[in-house]
Amino acid sequence: MLAVEYIGDHAVERVKRDSVDPGPGEVRVRVAYVGLCGTDLHILHGNMDARVRRPLTFGHEMSGIIDAVGEAVEGWRPGDAVTVMPLDWDGTCPACRAGHEHICQNLNFIGIDSPGALQELWNVPAETLVALPADLSLRTAALVEPVAVAVHDVRRSELRAGDKAVVIGGGPIGMLIASVAREYGAEVLLIEPDAVRRRRIADLGTATLDPTEADQAAAVEAWTAGAGADVVFEVSGAAAAVRGATALARVRGTIVVVAIHPTPREVDLHRVFWRELRLLGARVYRRPDFEEAVRLLQAGAIPADAVISGTMGLDRVAEAVAELEAGRAMKILVDVQSTGARP
Ligand SMILES: NC(=O)c1ccc[n+]([C@@H]2O[C@H](COP(=O)([O-])OP(=O)(O)OC[C@H]3O[C@@H](n4cnc5c(N)ncnc54)[C@H](O)[C@@H]3O)[C@@H](O)[C@H]2O)c1
Ligand SMILES: [Zn+2]
Repeated sequence: MLAVEYIGDHAVERVKRDSVDPGPGEVRVRVAYVGLCGTDLHILHGNMDARVRRPLTFGHEMSGIIDAVGEAVEGWRPGDAVTVMPLDWDGTCPACRAGHEHICQNLNFIGIDSPGALQELWNVPAETLVALPADLSLRTAALVEPVAVAVHDVRRSELRAGDKAVVIGGGPIGMLIASVAREYGAEVLLIEPDAVRRRRIADLGTATLDPTEADQAAAVEAWTAGAGADVVFEVSGAAAAVRGATALARVRGTIVVVAIHPTPREVDLHRVFWRELRLLGARVYRRPDFEEAVRLLQAGAIPADAVISGTMGLDRVAEAVAELEAGRAMKILVDVQSTGARP
């Protein structure tokens, strides 16, 4: 079977290897589609070399069909359509014992810390499987993982129907947060400097703002009749966005930090104090977020076709990465079985 590996030094390689029978408690999945995301780019750029063992088969957003089931696996059969929640926790650390397994202090993020989905046949622990309904296409289902991120972020914010929410950053995650928040009844304003991304989001009916042109604080104040937004999602990772975010939230409003900031940022703590703001982190997802993501995609509540900007074969991963690096794409799916090669 074929797999794609990050071998270090910005390089990916397509390799042939033998498939392995699933061990006890494991399932072998014939991977259909894998979505590439910003984290994959960080891996390829070497930013995570201290963490990842090379060669690494990366990829953690996926859909597929069960190919074989190992010993002691119950409830799953070959032919079942599935996605994988790529988290493997130890169950014993203080975070796990407090019920926060998704952010286990010794978390194995599958696809970063251990082999991921960019291979034709992938063995995973059966507990990571999430069932897909028959009427959800495998292409659309490859979005379950990033949609689950958005669901988790919106749930963490405690947003309510009728709330006004600002999303800072209109990449795939910001776009999905805007969709989920609107589905839950919020009015959304999305701030994004890139004109192409802004247009893509505006075409879906979400109000947008260019931060390089408009005074964001004044615009949000006008939009909320002087109150400020109920919820602000920081999804850009930009220092300037963090500095500005506190000015956008209402008294006792909530700011959710979704982006992964590579270095410490300056925050206007006076504003946090003055308005009694809540500043929350939101990291990955829990199983109910995954299940809700499946439901939202099945219900057509997420504009999957607007998020997926292209599909490429397993032999073109390097090209897909270059498209993403150039900022020309939103989400590219890798069609893992496209080469027609079989084990
Ligand atoms: N919390 C989690 O578990 C989790 C999961 C997935 C991704 N992430 C993080 O979420 C962030 C967003 O992911 P993505 O894939 O959408 O990334 P992305 O880089 O595609 O999107 C970020 C967007 O922010 C925009 N931006 C830059 N400066 C801005 C500013 N000053 N104001 C407004 N927008 C600005 C960029 O133009 C870009 O479109 C990343 O930091 C990513 O690492 C977090
Ligand atoms: Zn733990």
